[in-house]
Amino acid sequence: MDCLPGFREFYPEPLPLKDAWSCDARNHLFEAWRLTARGYGFREYDGPPLEPLELYTAKSGAEIVGQLFNFVDKGDRAVSMRPEMTPTVARMIAASERAYKKPIKWFSIPQLFRYEKQQRGRLREHFQLNCDLFGETDVAADAEIVALLVDVLRRLGLDAGDFVVRLSSRQAWQRFYESRSGDPARAYEFYQVIDKIEREKPEVTAAKLRDLGLDVADVQRFIEAGEPTPELQAVLDNLAARGLRDYVAIDYNVIRGLAYYTGIVFEAFDRKGEFRAIAGGGRYDQLIGLLSQGRVNLPALGFGMGDVVLLELLKARGKLPSFRQGLDAVVIIEDEGLRAESLALVQRLRESGRAVDYSLTPAKGDKQWKRAIEQGARHGHRVERDAGGAVVYRTRHLATRTESVGDLASALAAGDPAH
Ligand code: HAM
Repeated sequence: MDCLPGFREFYPEPLPLKDAWSCDARNHLFEAWRLTARGYGFREYDGPPLEPLELYTAKSGAEIVGQLFNFVDKGDRAVSMRPEMTPTVARMIAASERAYKKPIKWFSIPQLFRYEKQQRGRLREHFQLNCDLFGETDVAADAEIVALLVDVLRRLGLDAGDFVVRLSSRQAWQRFYESRSGDPARAYEFYQVIDKIEREKPEVTAAKLRDLGLDVADVQRFIEAGEPTPELQAVLDNLAARGLRDYVAIDYNVIRGLAYYTGIVFEAFDRKGEFRAIAGGGRYDQLIGLLSQGRVNLPALGFGMGDVVLLELLKARGKLPSFRQGLDAVVIIEDEGLRAESLALVQRLRESGRAVDYSLTPAKGDKQWKRAIEQGARHGHRVERDAGGAVVYRTRHLATRTESVGDLASALAAGDPAH
């Protein structure tokens, strides 16, 4: 039986099939995500993968509600697999913010579920790095979040020639809409039209805008002018001070589909425009208040970066390292009379923190050595008896083929990271 459409199996490398997903590559991402987020002073949190349905029907907006992976559980509760992390973290912050110093900087790597039509870059589950910052209205926070996004991608080997973060502002669009006397009750409908502007047929966009009392040429002129708001200019200047100016550009085609954004918004794309968005985010200063019925009001902003598009991009640009098992040692058991002593050595090596393997059942010596090399082991150990019948330990450094024979302590010292 195959796995469900839009779900993935992750294999250790070498991969059994060309299109298989690599668990090693996934962990490589997770490691870069964690290291960079921690480097920016973010702390890791997690939440439940299954949530009450109404957490999303209330605030995320029509688009994500249409993609919910929801059902009624055995206790008659309307529930949904989490399609995004933002409502969960907003609820967690509303419940706990008093216990933390501001600004609160948190990250998480949840697996998310959206019942979407499966296509390239879009699946029914994906992992997403979420980095969010709470309790700061200053634009310095927006710049910090964008810089973190940029540095996550740089750590993975991508540079300004590979990707760009397109910066925009919901407020700029809101002001545009208001100055053209748009109906305030239909503002989100207008944002949805802008969100789809690059994917939709021009005549469809024009008709939808006309229905909202707007002129498509007027909208196009606003996008093309790309005049940064004072806030966006401050973000650009802040990033320039870090030497990261080349990684960002003002682009009012971006507005974000989710309903809760209130300020600066952004999306990261590959420069060639071959892939869907790598990441997206922005400011959502009202969401915590909305979810807590006004009990807690805290400004918030952050981004989500998915693993699917990012892995496709890294693969296409040749930026994924080759992955090997990388054992520290293999214990070769050629003399079954010394299996007990060999097991004792395996145990001691593992207790000293090393990754160690050995043959569970009797096998030819050359087969065991060959397998040790395939497993990327650094050292091969063999327990032997010397001429006098005493137990000794032979250690071979597999890359240089140099060998030494000594006591147990010398075997344990070989390859010790402390030496
Ligand atoms: P989002 O734009 O819906 O934002 O998702 C962020 C990223 O997750 C996308 O750019 C994409 O890389 C990836 N992604 C989304 N859906 C799928 C899918 N079906 N298959 C594969 N990858 C996908 C959010 O989710 C916001 N909650 C992010 C956020 C955090 N905003 C503030 N804080």
